[in-house]
Amino acid sequence: MSNETVPKSSLFVWWVTIVILFLSVLLGLFVFYLSKTHQFKADSGPTFIDVSSYPAEMQKKYHIFVNKCSRCHTLARPINSGFTAEQWPSYVQKMKLKTGSGLTDKTANQITDFLIFDANNRKSISNN
Ligand code: HEC
Repeated sequence: MSNETVPKSSLFVWWVTIVILFLSVLLGLFVFYLSKTHQFKADSGPTFIDVSSYPAEMQKKYHIFVNKCSRCHTLARPINSGFTAEQWPSYVQKMKLKTGSGLTDKTANQITDFLIFDANNRKSISNN
């Protein structure tokens, strides 16, 4: 057998490899595009609240909020959602019911307390 001609099967493997690589790049670009267009606007805002002027009780509840509500998304999402005191109770319930939320009635209530206080007292709701 001569070494000068590349066997047909080998060419086929190259061809398939190149097509797969090309498709992978396309898929990567597509996922990147989706990640840019399907985003919660709130996620790109600030990820903390300055609670230094809040009562000690609320600062304690803030820490529960920080621990519990950052499990599935960043804190930016609730912090910049612009939800009102009236909207928070049912929304925290909605989050509590999500699979694996790790939220109990007790923590959910404490967090709701904090979010209501925060909605009524935060100086600038969005720091954009
Ligand atoms: C089990 C995962 C999980 C936990 C824990 C969780 N969230 Fe969420 N959150 C989600 C998902 C998923 C979404 C996307 C919208 C949806 O599916 O309802 C979301 C969306 C949100 C939004 C976006 C609403 C909007 O339309 O702008 C807010 C606000 C929010 N969560 C607040 C909270 C708060 C407050 C807590 C803590 C009490 C919390 N989340 C805990 C999963 C979670």
